[in-house]
Amino acid sequence: MACFFRRHIASKLSEALRQPEETFIPSLSAIPVSKKHQSSDFRLSVTSLLQNGILSSADDSQTKTEALVQRLKPDNVVEEVLVGRRAINFKINRSVLVQKMLEKLHEEGHLFGVKSELFSSLQRRKTLVEFSSPNIAKKFHAGHLRSTIIGNFIANLKETLGHEVIRMNYLGDWGMQFGLLGAGFQNFGSEEKLKVNPLQHLFDVYVRVNKEAESDQNIWLTAREFFRSLEQGEEQALSLWQRFRDITIEEYQQVYERLGVHFDEYSGESFHRSQTKEVLQQLKDQGLLQTTEKGTGVVDLSSAKDMSYYSTVVRSDGTSLYITRDLAAAIDRKEKYAFDEMIYVTDKGQSGHFQQIFQILQAMGYEWAQSCLHVPFGRVQGMKTRLGEVVFLEDVLDESRVRMLRNMTASRTTKDLEDPEDTAQKVGISALIIQDFMGPLMSDYKFSWDQVLQAQGDTGVFLQYTHARLCSLMRMNENGLEATFDPQLLQEQCSIHILQHLLRYDEVLHKSLQDLQPKYLVNFLLTLCHLAATAHRTLPVKGSPTGQAEARLQLFKGTCTVLANGMKILGITPVEKM
Ligand code: ARG
Repeated sequence: MACFFRRHIASKLSEALRQPEETFIPSLSAIPVSKKHQSSDFRLSVTSLLQNGILSSADDSQTKTEALVQRLKPDNVVEEVLVGRRAINFKINRSVLVQKMLEKLHEEGHLFGVKSELFSSLQRRKTLVEFSSPNIAKKFHAGHLRSTIIGNFIANLKETLGHEVIRMNYLGDWGMQFGLLGAGFQNFGSEEKLKVNPLQHLFDVYVRVNKEAESDQNIWLTAREFFRSLEQGEEQALSLWQRFRDITIEEYQQVYERLGVHFDEYSGESFHRSQTKEVLQQLKDQGLLQTTEKGTGVVDLSSAKDMSYYSTVVRSDGTSLYITRDLAAAIDRKEKYAFDEMIYVTDKGQSGHFQQIFQILQAMGYEWAQSCLHVPFGRVQGMKTRLGEVVFLEDVLDESRVRMLRNMTASRTTKDLEDPEDTAQKVGISALIIQDFMGPLMSDYKFSWDQVLQAQGDTGVFLQYTHARLCSLMRMNENGLEATFDPQLLQEQCSIHILQHLLRYDEVLHKSLQDLQPKYLVNFLLTLCHLAATAHRTLPVKGSPTGQAEARLQLFKGTCTVLANGMKILGITPVEKM
């Protein structure tokens, strides 16, 4: 597979150019498949030769590259070495390509790509990923859904590549909203409704109390009083709050499970309410805290130290803010988990907030603030369900399941499914994920159910459909697998294309890890599906001579494995039938 070939070419280069193999490994990239012409398989760019000092900018690089190519003699693995466009191209012997790739796919299974040379110098780190983080009693909006699936992708990717990952949900479970919720519940809460449909009821109470507070000053008084008693740790208020929190987590856990997401810890703003005092004290001791005329406490973040840019960390009444709790949370997590890096996933509207956190931590002398990272994403417009605007995660999942089931019933294979609802749910979720992951995370996009759920074209449905088709092919030929085969029997253009494409898988993972964007993997998998569809059409298994049938089955099996591996990293559960 990729790493075998890459290592082989690197050693060739190393011999010819008297530089360690390691110099060339990261610079060798697999060439994207081209439908128009038979291409080489790997390229080494002239830029990388310049970077490694093998060519100097003063050289006539074209002539020098040509001379270099002369020194790289073909062998039984590398069939041709050619001068390409500002690159040296390497073509692998087709039999060796087929033989080695299928061998690796078979041997490595779910570790295919992960064991690549590209990751051999990767430090396995402890990563804390904080994602999803909805607010109790408030809406779960499209931004929370994005945070959930993006965070899950990042956690999966890191885990797949051998990092230790802590998945954390940081609930909005403190603040004045609980004053209002408490006041509201005392006035028009219902124990009965809280049992039957807790999230809905808390939300209703919250909406109603906010509305009434507009015209009724008394509600504010009660709310403030309730929050004050919470902050002072009064038992009755706390126990009501605790119930709201517990119920919410319990409900969410079920919905997250449907989505295929889990958390190692449900933390929340409330966890750090007392630690905020220590943070403020420390800021004060370090001379970083200033009091404004209005009586608020601020940290000056301007480079000129003229307060042209600052962050408010304490209200005039001495209570903490969102950012104060975040500072306390970060310090606490570092102590508790000793993470090597921490990643926050929220919409881009909070970028400034996180930059301030990192800057303040840095000013406080916490060098590890440099290993904290905010992964921002753009807004989604128009995510609606039959019920109207999205209020709960469950609504989105229900809607995707209903719609998908409707589409599936129109297709004839659905009747063979054991649990069509479950399949519809999984496929529906993959559709949501792919639509979301298609472009750069920072872009805003317009949500459309019709587009999301299309079976043709670049959608999650198409990925699932391709996976299910490949699985069905395996099922129909179960006793045909495992046999040896002749690589000469797999020389058609479409077989070679699939294998060439698979050569890129490790690079795609590598690139994804570098900038934590899912689009590379999404595009890779979609192309794989298109190539598989062509191969499926042109390379029948049934009715072909045994050897050829075997060889083709092996190819489809390998394709199916990589497809499933990649889908799982994206947070998609591949279905075997649909
Ligand atoms: N609960 C917040 C919201 O809904 C997101 C929390 C993000 N994480 C953090 N550490 N501040 O906007």
